[in-house]
Amino acid sequence: MKKKEEQPSSGSKIIETLIRIQKDFGYLPEEKLKEVATLFGVPESQIWGVATFYNVFRLKPKGKTHIKICMGTACHLSGGERVLEAAERELKITVGDTTPDLRFSLERVACIGCCMLAPVVVVDGKVYPRMSPLKFEELLIGLGEKGSD
Ligand code: FES
Repeated sequence: MKKKEEQPSSGSKIIETLIRIQKDFGYLPEEKLKEVATLFGVPESQIWGVATFYNVFRLKPKGKTHIKICMGTACHLSGGERVLEAAERELKITVGDTTPDLRFSLERVACIGCCMLAPVVVVDGKVYPRMSPLKFEELLIGLGEKGSD
């Protein structure tokens, strides 16, 4: 009895639990996913399935410096894609990832409302206007990156 309601509610309870963990840690640590599986008595693969299905969940910690590249229409049309490629190349990570030393994380975002300044990059909340691959490299040098190897 009440079996019909158990599945959906346990599914939403799992999501609520993952959201709470992410709030506490900033991402979903692997060992916490194992604990959630044990807590709900489900296979770890099910928890991983939920964590990877919703793009609100992060499976890696954020870097100390959080770089967002706007890929809204105005930014995309004015060269945002090339800036993003330069960022991936310079940081040696792909978008959505964090450098191994946890210094930088790179994210692609939708329009942040500064289209007149396109293409824009946001570093820890500060907007950098009219970016180009070269300007991005200079920005990284200013942030103390370049030369990590
Ligand atoms: S599209 Fe980038 S700020 Fe609007």
